[in-house]
Amino acid sequence: MQKTEVFYPSKLPPRNTFPQESVLFYDSILNKNAAFKAWSKKFEFQLALKSGESLKTINSFSEVLTKLSKLAVPSTPRLTFIAVGGGSVGDFVGFLASVYLRGRALIQIPSTWLAAFDSAHGGKNGLNLLGQKNQLGTFHSPEKVYLVKELLVSQPSARMVEALGEVIKIAIIGQPRIFSVLEKNIFKLNAKHLIEILPAAVQAKYKIVGLDPYEKSGVRRVLNLGHTMGHVFESHFGWPHGICILLGTLFSVRWSYHLGCLSTRDYIRISNLIESAYTSINLNEDLAGVTEAQIKTALFKDKKRTSSSQIDFIFIKKVGSVTRKKVSVDEILAEIHRQKTEY
Ligand SMILES: NC(=O)c1ccc[n+]([C@@H]2O[C@H](COP(=O)([O-])OP(=O)(O)OC[C@H]3O[C@@H](n4cnc5c(N)ncnc54)[C@H](O)[C@@H]3O)[C@@H](O)[C@H]2O)c1
Ligand SMILES: [Zn+2]
Repeated sequence: MQKTEVFYPSKLPPRNTFPQESVLFYDSILNKNAAFKAWSKKFEFQLALKSGESLKTINSFSEVLTKLSKLAVPSTPRLTFIAVGGGSVGDFVGFLASVYLRGRALIQIPSTWLAAFDSAHGGKNGLNLLGQKNQLGTFHSPEKVYLVKELLVSQPSARMVEALGEVIKIAIIGQPRIFSVLEKNIFKLNAKHLIEILPAAVQAKYKIVGLDPYEKSGVRRVLNLGHTMGHVFESHFGWPHGICILLGTLFSVRWSYHLGCLSTRDYIRISNLIESAYTSINLNEDLAGVTEAQIKTALFKDKKRTSSSQIDFIFIKKVGSVTRKKVSVDEILAEIHRQKTEY
C-alpha cells in the first residue's frame, strides 16, 4: 500500500504545494470559511460537494462524474484529486480517485475532527448501497494528508463530540495516555486538547493499518471496535457516524464486562467517559428502537462477517487493549436482549 505522508501545518498549504493538474473537491459548507475561500480561488479545477451520507451514493457519484467531465480536466498521469471536508467527502473522493482512469493520486485535507483523527487515514473509502454503509469501496491511500490547524479549529463544538467516538476508540485500543487526557478534560474539552492528542492518535492508527493494510490477516479489524452495533444505529436512525460509534462502544463495554474480560474499574472508567462525552446518550432506549428483524438485516450486511452467521466482534480487555472474537448473530441478539432488560 502507498505510504502516506502526514503534515501538521498551521495554515492551508500554498497552491504550488500541489500539482498543477489538481482537482479540488470540497464540502460546500467551507464557502463560509474566509481563509478557505481565498485559498480555493487559486485552483482552476474545482467542485463543491454537498456533504453527508447522501453524497456517498451511486446517484451522486454519477452526478459528480458528469460535472467532472464538463470541467475538461487534463487526464495526465499527474492528475491529483484533493478532498477538503469531513469523512463523507473524504470517502467519496477517495473512491472516485481510486477508480477514475483506473486510479489517480489522492490528497486528503480533513475539515472535521472525525476525518482528521480517523477517516482521512488508512486508505479505506466507500459508497453506501441501499442505505447500508460502505458496501462499495476500495483501498486507496492518500499520498499526503494535511491536518491544517486553522481549518480544524474553525469547527463548531458539535463536530468535536462526533469525533469522540473514534478518538475514544483508538484510546481504548492502545493509547491509555490519550484516554487519561480525555478523562481529565472531558467536561472542558476544547480544540487545544484535540490538537495536542492528534499526532499520537494518528500514529496509532497508521501502526495498526501498517500491520494489515488490506484487512487480510484481521489485525486491522480491531479498528472496528464499536462499529458492529454503531453501523446498525447509523443505518437505522441516520445519526452522525461518531455518535453511533459512541453507542456501539458502550454496547461492547457492557458485553465485555458481562463476559468477565474487563475489570470493574475499567468498565466504570470507559462507561463514564462515554457518558460524559455525550451526555444525552441512552443506549437502552436506542436498542429498543430497532427491531430484531432490522438488526438481523443490518448485521447480515456487516463487512466484519466471517461466515454466514459469524461476525468478528471486538471486545475490550482493558484501557489500552482489545481482543477479537467470532460471535454469532444469535449471540449478539441475546446480548441486546440482556442489555435491554438489565440496564
Ligand atoms: N474511511 C474511513 O476509514 C472512515 C472512518 C471513519 C468514518 N468514516 C466515514 O466518515 C463519515 C463521517 O465523517 P464526518 O463526521 O466528518 O461527516 P461529514 O463529512 O458528513 O461532516 C459532518 C458535518 O460537518 C460539516 N463540516 C465539515 N467541515 C466543517 C467545518 N470545517 N466547519 C463546520 N462544519 C463542517 C459538514 O458539512 C457536515 O454537515 C461517515 O460517512 C463515515 O462512514 C470513514
Ligand atoms: Zn468509524
